[in-house]
Amino acid sequence: MPREKTAPACYALVHPGLEKVAAEEIRTDLAGEVKRAEGGVVVFRLPEIDRSVLELRTTEDVFLHAWGTDQLSYRATDLDGIQRWTAKDANWPELLRIHHAIRPKPKGKPSYRLVVQMTGEHGYRRVDASKALARGLAGKIPASWRPAEENAAVEIWLTIHAATAVCGLRLSDRTMRHRTWKLEHFPASLRPTMAAALVRLADLKPENVVLDPMCGAGTILGEAWFYARHQAQLRPGWRITLLGGDIDLHHVRFAKANLRQLGNVPIENWDATRRLPLDNASVDRIISNLPFGKQMSNPLEIGPLYQAAVKQMDRVLKPGGRAVLLVSEPAELKQALRPLHWKQEGFVPVRILGQRAVILVYRKPS
Ligand SMILES: C[S@@+](CC[C@H](N)C(=O)[O-])C[C@H]1O[C@@H](n2cnc3c(N)ncnc32)[C@H](O)[C@@H]1O
Repeated sequence: MPREKTAPACYALVHPGLEKVAAEEIRTDLAGEVKRAEGGVVVFRLPEIDRSVLELRTTEDVFLHAWGTDQLSYRATDLDGIQRWTAKDANWPELLRIHHAIRPKPKGKPSYRLVVQMTGEHGYRRVDASKALARGLAGKIPASWRPAEENAAVEIWLTIHAATAVCGLRLSDRTMRHRTWKLEHFPASLRPTMAAALVRLADLKPENVVLDPMCGAGTILGEAWFYARHQAQLRPGWRITLLGGDIDLHHVRFAKANLRQLGNVPIENWDATRRLPLDNASVDRIISNLPFGKQMSNPLEIGPLYQAAVKQMDRVLKPGGRAVLLVSEPAELKQALRPLHWKQEGFVPVRILGQRAVILVYRKPS
């Protein structure tokens, strides 16, 4: 791990399974060069590091890269490595300079916080890794800075997952993962970063009509709105139409409250397994997170629900249109889609709230 000579690399922590989608966003939107995308971490270099890195939508957090390894031994000797790499392999003054340019220091004495995340079985505890990190940082953080548990001006993170460790300075804050527009939430509501990934996989075009027939709190429609706004800033002519509905009146209210700030998005209270109040072949994209079997009072009802819902989706989707569906029971969805001859174009396994799920991407034949 030689000391960085050029601008430092960055890395993003992403929802496991979304590494490739996030890498595509970094390449396309930031002209980044992606070095590695696996294990929930995407390492990349940018032509220039500025605040645009905070506009990524499929990432949970972004950092300036101090050091990284994929050769942890799982033994206590890793602690010496963590201390040594932290002390020797990072140019902390340069990292702090770039950090302050992106996140200006608040007035008064700066505060800092060390955050250590650790998954997998290791022969040491998280607190031991944290102490090794602190020893490595001795003399790197100005002595006048005070440690803080919350709202620190500077956060130094160490993320250990199996044999991989990555350490850096956090550039993002909680608004990257939680957003500021999403005020209403319910337990099965999607994380905005996951919704943003579904939207990217839908490959929206400038005048698309986009439908989420089971929209919950409207997370997917909201992220589609932000995607289209970003595209409109790059080139004129982007004017997508968003449509949504849900069977649960509370969720309809949540979606309306969340989307009100983003313009006029009609949200209906409907049963998407019955005839939707939409014309045949009137929608270009369907992006939805269908109910998971475990959320239903009777999980056996999931098959019939999918069958009835995809019939309606097929009716309203234009030939050549795309559907991006996040489901927990892909076999049931495939069974439901068998009579329709939609072509599967993507299969992205993810985990949602500890459960296995899959994002399936389909194209309806022209
Ligand atoms: C997993 S949640 C969707 C969460 C949503 N993507 C969000 O981010 O808030 C599934 C949604 O499907 C809705 N739903 C279930 N059966 C439905 C039906 N037959 N018609 C319309 N919506 C339905 C539920 O009320 C729930 O809001």
